[in-house]
Amino acid sequence: MAEEKNAISVDMKTLEEFESGLDPRHPERSRIPARVLGYGEISTVFEIQAQGMEGYAFKRLAVFKDRREIGPYLGNYEEYNRILAEEVGISLPPYGHASLTSRSGRPIFYIIQEQLPPESIGNRIIHLLPSQEVVLLVRLILRELKKVWDFNREREGVEVAIDGQVSNWSVAGFDPSSPHVDEGTELLYVDTSTPLFRIGGVEQLDPELFLRSAPSFLVWMIRLLFLKDVMTRYYDFRLVAIDLIANFHKEQRPELIPALIEEANDFFATEAREHGVKPITGKDVDSYYREDAVIWSLYLALRKTDRFLQERILRREYPYILPGKIKRR
Ligand SMILES: Nc1ncnc2c1ncn2[C@@H]1O[C@H](COP(=O)(O)OP(=O)(O)OP(=O)(O)O)[C@@H](O)[C@H]1O
Ligand SMILES: [Mg+2]
Repeated sequence: MAEEKNAISVDMKTLEEFESGLDPRHPERSRIPARVLGYGEISTVFEIQAQGMEGYAFKRLAVFKDRREIGPYLGNYEEYNRILAEEVGISLPPYGHASLTSRSGRPIFYIIQEQLPPESIGNRIIHLLPSQEVVLLVRLILRELKKVWDFNREREGVEVAIDGQVSNWSVAGFDPSSPHVDEGTELLYVDTSTPLFRIGGVEQLDPELFLRSAPSFLVWMIRLLFLKDVMTRYYDFRLVAIDLIANFHKEQRPELIPALIEEANDFFATEAREHGVKPITGKDVDSYYREDAVIWSLYLALRKTDRFLQERILRREYPYILPGKIKRR
């Protein structure tokens, strides 16, 4: 079953054992238990509690129909990481990957990263820092994002997308006994599993992969409602900044939003002037958030319905690990 590994490599036997005993509905109850480190909208990141797996973070992608689909995805994943780290200049934690076949014969791709301290991740640290430092953190994130749009402007024919949400960044060298962010703080970017980039204007990632983990009865709606939106918003500096700020609703610090808007507008009027980003308003942020919350809550609810149908009614395997209940405001 074992096949590939690179930079970070883990013991494939242990990973296969984990996979064969995995309970996707309750990952913590798997034969080798998983400890969830974080949920995104689409995937779950966890630690595998076995010897030799300590200190790694795993993201399990179960969307591939057959092994032949993994090759192109892996190519995109590696190229995306390479462009971000080497050409754009964004720091990434050490990473690797592994692929194997599940017990039901499904190809599974694991993204492996060095595990970063949970409190160092943006959506945790914003609850530990004083407000001015949260505002500074957002400015530091905007500076990282600017590197992407500088690259996109300079590099003819290549365009990279990025999801700037606060939960996708980790404060490097974070010290839990004194949470602190200053002008010299360095950030690491973790969310590399959706490697969106265009070459000559052509999206390199197969959008169908996104649709796979959606219930089949919904695919038409997702195509219509959100695929285009989700595939394109991350190429737009202004939308990525709005997304970053609007997310403070979901991350339970909405009171900071006015200060964050002010900070972002100052950033766009000074440090990032050349990108000509129009000022962001409170209305932009609120209406964006309302729409986004509807899209994602609906998406998750329908995936849970699908899981119920597949497992309980059709008695089929449901291969995806879904996020738990996401608290929103
Ligand atoms: N290397 C890591 N170390 C520690 N925690 C991590 C690491 N990578 C991810 N996490 C946790 O898991 C959460 C989700 O990870 P990530 O942002 O990569 O996935 P995602 O948002 O689900 O991606 P998508 O929605 O695009 O599938 C992060 O916000 C963080 O809390
Ligand atoms: Mg994320």
